[in-house]
Amino acid sequence: MNGQEGKMEMIVALAKRRGFVYPSSEIYGGFAGIYDFGPLGVELEKNIKDDWWRTMVYEREDIVGLDSAIFMNPKVWDASGHTKGFSDPLVECKECHTRSRADKMLEDIGVVADEKMNEEEINKVFSLQQAKLKCPTCGKQNFTPVRKFNLLVKSNLGDFTNNNSAPSYLRGETCQGIYVNFKNVLDSQHLKLPFGIAQIGKAFRNEISPRQFIFRGREFEQMEMQYFVRPEDEMTEYEQLRTYRMNALLQLGIKSENLRWKKHEKLVFYAKEAYDIEYKYPWGFDEMEGVHARGDYDLIQHSKGSGKPMDYFDDEKNERFVPHIIESSGGVGRLFLALLCEAYTEDEMGGEKRVYLKFKPEMAPVRAAVFPLLKNKPELVAKAREVFTMLRKSLGRVQFDDNGNIGKRYRRQDEIGTPYCVTVDFDTLGEKPELKDTVTLRDRDTGKQERIAIGELVSRFGAS
Ligand code: GAP
Repeated sequence: MNGQEGKMEMIVALAKRRGFVYPSSEIYGGFAGIYDFGPLGVELEKNIKDDWWRTMVYEREDIVGLDSAIFMNPKVWDASGHTKGFSDPLVECKECHTRSRADKMLEDIGVVADEKMNEEEINKVFSLQQAKLKCPTCGKQNFTPVRKFNLLVKSNLGDFTNNNSAPSYLRGETCQGIYVNFKNVLDSQHLKLPFGIAQIGKAFRNEISPRQFIFRGREFEQMEMQYFVRPEDEMTEYEQLRTYRMNALLQLGIKSENLRWKKHEKLVFYAKEAYDIEYKYPWGFDEMEGVHARGDYDLIQHSKGSGKPMDYFDDEKNERFVPHIIESSGGVGRLFLALLCEAYTEDEMGGEKRVYLKFKPEMAPVRAAVFPLLKNKPELVAKAREVFTMLRKSLGRVQFDDNGNIGKRYRRQDEIGTPYCVTVDFDTLGEKPELKDTVTLRDRDTGKQERIAIGELVSRFGAS
């Protein structure tokens, strides 16, 4: 095992042990590609989503929010092209029956399989390269022909035939809910181009080979913003959105050397130009989010599919046209994993090896912890509870811990990334009168402690 594989294993183990992420329905053996977020996981998720909403909606006068339903009229997915074109090329090992994505296997040996290739074309490329391709599980080279496998997850909602002849789908991407509401939002909010609609919500894909923990799942959450622009402004706005998104990720404390742009050589069926922002995960750089120029594809398709106009009237220029769309589309889970990887740090403190999560303080699942120096002194416990209650009001998630010695309590908080620990001791109660109503504040990263007035804690933590 190399160091990076080891790091991934440590992160997955820590995530489970400390309540960030659990395999779904684990007591039944789990369920491939599905995960549950535990008590600390939901806090980190919430911080990620709140930060995204702040940068993409609250800090922008030109962007509004939406929460569309997961289920939509199945005609949406016909019009969008997903029932036909939203597929991955699947190949099965005849020896051990492992299913793999043919395009990923080809990519691993440096051959690009174009997204637009039909079954016949990709089979040709796969056969030409077959001598170099091995099953990732058993290493044998005996494969079925490649076939395109549609990623939409079907349901029988509203279909009472018992044969699922008219399936509805769990949405494969959240943005379709935005496109079909384009006119509703435009008319109800009286918006002028350019403007955006943002949404956070679950998406579902029948991924052939879910992998790398929560990186590629079958149920995941997307944060998507669709920006509607005049056709001639599409590429300028696209460049601006790319810069905006990269800056937002840097602001989260991700190091610039761990982020890079990757231009798509093989474009998905709707895209005109596409870039991924890749993060350097323990297995290497991989897609974290995408910024795509989609042209007028989506509005035209839904206009054709529904028979309703999906255009915009510019009353100043007296012009009617179909806006073009640029989108920013990121997975909550991929950013969650990137923040865990970025924060995971090993060092030595007080002669002992220590593992801690170096989150930016605002992103930490627990913003601060409060300890009474001793558990069996009611006056210390009462004062610590008072400080705890006061901090919770401004910071949200704060933990109270009176279990074990202070050193152990620090380690437990370090491991979940709590930036500050506050200890209430006898001086807080006035044993030394000049230190009355002060506490010890300990910094996660340096381990340094200082004495600070209780009244200054909230502003020190950057809260109000
Ligand atoms: N609306 C465009 C769209 O959905 P995408 O590249 O298919 O584009 C966008 O997905 C983002 O959604 C990805 O960059 C990734 O962050 C996340 N994502 C896609 N598939 C995922 C999966 N199976 N598991 C977790 N996240 C996924």
